[in-house]
Amino acid sequence: MFRLLYVLLLTLLVAFGQRCTLTPSGGDDGPQFLAAAASCDTVVIPVGEEFNIATRMNMTGLTNTHINLEGTIRFQPDISYWTGNAFFFDFQDSITFWLLGGENIVLSGSGTLDGAGQAWYDAFASNSSLLRPIILTVYQAKNALVEDIHMVNSPMWFNLVYESNNVTYSNINITAVSTSKNTIANTDGWDIYRSDTVVIRDSTILNGDDCVSFKPNTTNVLVSNLSCNGSHGVSVGSLGQYAGIFDIVENITATDISMSNAENGARIKAWAGSDVGSGIVKNITFANFEVSNVDNPIVIDQCYETSSSQCSEFPSNTFIEDVWFNDVFGTSSGATVASLECSPDDRCSNINVNDLNLKAGKGTAKYECQNIVLSGNSVDLFPDCTET
Ligand SMILES: *[C@@H]1O[C@H](CO)[C@@H](O)[C@H](O)[C@H]1NC(C)=O
Ligand SMILES: *[C@@H]1O[C@H](CO)[C@@H](O)[C@H](O)[C@H]1NC(C)=O
Ligand SMILES: *[C@@H]1O[C@H](CO)[C@@H](O)[C@H](O)[C@H]1NC(C)=O
Ligand SMILES: *[C@@H]1O[C@H](CO)[C@@H](O)[C@H](O)[C@H]1NC(C)=O
Ligand SMILES: *[C@@H]1O[C@H](CO)[C@@H](O)[C@H](O)[C@H]1NC(C)=O
Ligand SMILES: *[C@@H]1O[C@H](CO)[C@@H](O)[C@H](O)[C@H]1NC(C)=O
Ligand SMILES: *[C@@H]1O[C@H](CO)[C@@H](O)[C@H](O)[C@H]1NC(C)=O
Ligand SMILES: *[C@@H]1O[C@H](CO)[C@@H](O)[C@H](O)[C@H]1NC(C)=O
Ligand SMILES: *[C@@H]1O[C@H](CO)[C@@H](O)[C@H](O)[C@H]1NC(C)=O
Repeated sequence: MFRLLYVLLLTLLVAFGQRCTLTPSGGDDGPQFLAAAASCDTVVIPVGEEFNIATRMNMTGLTNTHINLEGTIRFQPDISYWTGNAFFFDFQDSITFWLLGGENIVLSGSGTLDGAGQAWYDAFASNSSLLRPIILTVYQAKNALVEDIHMVNSPMWFNLVYESNNVTYSNINITAVSTSKNTIANTDGWDIYRSDTVVIRDSTILNGDDCVSFKPNTTNVLVSNLSCNGSHGVSVGSLGQYAGIFDIVENITATDISMSNAENGARIKAWAGSDVGSGIVKNITFANFEVSNVDNPIVIDQCYETSSSQCSEFPSNTFIEDVWFNDVFGTSSGATVASLECSPDDRCSNINVNDLNLKAGKGTAKYECQNIVLSGNSVDLFPDCTET
């Protein structure tokens, strides 16, 4: 009997867990948002309201927290504040407005995260070393879901997944547009670093750098049903840049991707040369990519940022194996449709090309390969690969 009451009481407590609805303060809403996330089960950012974030948000250590984003959160473009106070990562000298971490976190709703990037795009044009913040960093999180939200005008990358496990993004609408002549540089959709089990699906991206990028130590990722426009493609790497550090990217599937007006479609890049790092890229599938006006639909560059003589002398120590480019179709922007260039000395193995159906935007379709033995039913499209 008591046990039953106890269970009932617990159920009621869970069912009526505290739900907190925020009201814009007129000033910096960062502190009230942080306080609510720390103490409420559900934090509601109500529809039609705009919240202003003027101080960094360390929203880590959450458990079972739902942020219901229906309104807008805007990060005040106070450049001198953020360059001095945003969270900093050694990794690529990145900074971020917001760390979101803990266990069992949901961030969902039809609302918007607005990076107010225009001021940053303009400032970056006259200071190319300006550090610009990432909007959202899912940081040391386990079981996180980000769903149905809009993200606009990030100053830098939109999303970083950092040291996290089991993170899903679904139905995210990313848009970066500059209203001045200055570009939306480095506005990657997602970067994943030291993380395992990540899903990115059913999303649209209009940006100016990688649509999705798999950085060092990214494993078990599914990217599916994205429409990427204006990007630099879906990209593994660059890897193996830093001497003494071993980078792993393994078990990645990117499928059902529509890639328009982009620099690249499906890409893998790894450093070569003296005094660089090492690593392994293994079991990567790019499948069902539709490209339109893409400069390089299919790319492996294992001599990344390295001259060809340096690459021959110091081949990449980031080995690439078990890669599939399947069902890549559509039209490039110029003549190049595929460029698969490995370092010498068997640094690439089991690289497969199947069902490629690519047309050149201009001239005759050009397939290039170097230091690879290709497999798959589209091998005949390639000439004998160059050996260096
Ligand atoms: C964020 O807050 C947690 C808990 O207070 C603290 O342990 C951690 O050091 C903070 N992280 C950063 C990057 O400031
Ligand atoms: C450019 O940005 C860097 C890094 O954020 C900063 O240290 C430097 O002071 C800025 N330079 C100018 C001229 O504003
Ligand atoms: C992964 O996270 C989702 C929430 O996005 C959760 O439903 C699922 O149970 C988690 N998986 C594991 C193995 O914990
Ligand atoms: C994404 O959002 C932009 C405005 O931010 C809107 O113009 C566009 O239609 C949206 N795309 C989708 C597929 O919902
Ligand atoms: C693909 O994603 C779009 C949102 O960008 C969604 O509307 C559509 O239903 C998704 N398709 C599938 C097959 O899930
Ligand atoms: C890509 O974005 C440009 C600029 O906003 C737009 O004109 C074009 O229709 C978009 N293309 C696709 C395929 O979404
Ligand atoms: C990646 O993981 C390996 C193996 O755990 C580790 O040795 C290496 O330092 C990690 N690299 C990075 C960049 O974290
Ligand atoms: C890759 O997937 C295989 C098969 O599921 C698994 O055995 C292996 O541990 C995975 N590799 C990593 C680094 O998680
Ligand atoms: C390759 O990676 C995929 C996930 O992207 C996984 O399902 C599959 O089991 C992996 N295969 C091997 C042989 O590890």
